[in-house]
Amino acid sequence: MPRSRLGIGFIGSGFNARFHIQSLIGVRDADVRGIFSPNAANAADAADLARTLNVGEAKPYSSIADMVDDPSIDAIWLCGPNHARIENVEEVVDAIKAGRGSLKGIACEKPLARTVGEARTVTELVKSADLSHGYLENQLFTPHVVRGRDLIWARGAALTGRPYLARAAEEHSGPHMPWFWRADLQGGGVLTDMMCHSVEVVRHLLTEPGAPRSSIRPVRVTARIASLKWTRPEYVEKLAQMMGDEVDYGKRPAEDFASATIEYVTEDGTPLLGEVTTSWCFVGAGLRLSAELLGPEYSMSWNTLESGLKLFFSREVSGEAGEDLVEKQNAEVGLMPVIPDEWTAYGYEAENRHFTQAFLNDQQPALTFDDGVEVMQILMTAYMSAEQGRTIDFPPADLDAFVPAVAKGEWR
Ligand SMILES: NC(=O)c1ccc[n+]([C@@H]2O[C@H](COP(=O)([O-])OP(=O)(O)OC[C@H]3O[C@@H](n4cnc5c(N)ncnc54)[C@H](O)[C@@H]3O)[C@@H](O)[C@H]2O)c1
Repeated sequence: MPRSRLGIGFIGSGFNARFHIQSLIGVRDADVRGIFSPNAANAADAADLARTLNVGEAKPYSSIADMVDDPSIDAIWLCGPNHARIENVEEVVDAIKAGRGSLKGIACEKPLARTVGEARTVTELVKSADLSHGYLENQLFTPHVVRGRDLIWARGAALTGRPYLARAAEEHSGPHMPWFWRADLQGGGVLTDMMCHSVEVVRHLLTEPGAPRSSIRPVRVTARIASLKWTRPEYVEKLAQMMGDEVDYGKRPAEDFASATIEYVTEDGTPLLGEVTTSWCFVGAGLRLSAELLGPEYSMSWNTLESGLKLFFSREVSGEAGEDLVEKQNAEVGLMPVIPDEWTAYGYEAENRHFTQAFLNDQQPALTFDDGVEVMQILMTAYMSAEQGRTIDFPPADLDAFVPAVAKGEWR
């Protein structure tokens, strides 16, 4: 008999895994059953969080293969660091091929890997084990993007023609862990870390609901990258103080700003534009996700910092630095926006409902590893364009073997 509940095992117990765990409060047919982390205390903490929130009797694991072997675990949510993707997927697949466990599927966080070549490797691995595979892109599931897109297409586009321009941006003041800043480990700078979200948001907004992904095709990419803040001498020093000596932006910088224009065409040759911007040097109240969709007689706009809830703290309220108002919060006084359920506002809750249902019903999710590969193709083309200072036809040759100069430590 098919299962009615999905047991999830998490690889990784960090920032992102905790967002997923909190979001499961709003998912009625999934339970957290296992957490793997190389750090036993972190695995135990995240398992405690799941039990405290009543989203599953989670057990901490010190081996991925043992977690896969647990009969209560049906699917893996892969939320480890980017540099461990291939080894993490190999361990899952080796366990399955050795006859351990009974997994239905695996869902992987963004980016699918650090390069197109690595993304293809993890995709071939999961296919070789006959696993359903999902690419976790939470921003497509944010209530605002879902509702805005549906209404724009149902009213504006249906009566006056399809939208032609989409913009998306993700901006904050810099990541929370040293490995993100190290382009050799993470895969690049802010472009690999965050442009993946905006690339998918613009493609999704420009695609007619119900139409296949292939109904719009990327044809050219023009991008630039820059280090605007974190290579200034005072910030090189500050970053080393915050992240430790392994992060030296005087010697091995990565970009803290990236923008790209992606030209698409529809099946009948109509041109469409996607503009994406991403930054680790935005100092506002905290993380800001935004998007716009424009067509002949309509437009939509979304900005997570316009949350509908603001608090004011006078200068007498000088408390500890925190992230209790908003992710990547930069201040504790003055007029501050608050996002009450960030895991819902950023799309994790609806995303996890979708992926849970897909795996329970033995269906491929709306986003698969193949889509994750295509996102990587666009990101790597953007790096190529920025390095060469010109527009690049998509897809360029030799994309699979391409490693950005930033990741090779050759970018200044
Ligand atoms: N969707 C989003 O908006 C979003 C947000 C943050 C992070 N992410 C992605 O999620 C992933 C994790 O990011 P994070 O912010 O949680 O990072 P993090 O550093 O906070 O947590 C990483 C976790 O992985 C564990 N880990 C370390 N080495 C490992 C290994 N070899 N194998 C497996 N696990 C290992 C660590 O113990 C830690 O629990 C990254 O791929 C990141 O790009 C996505």
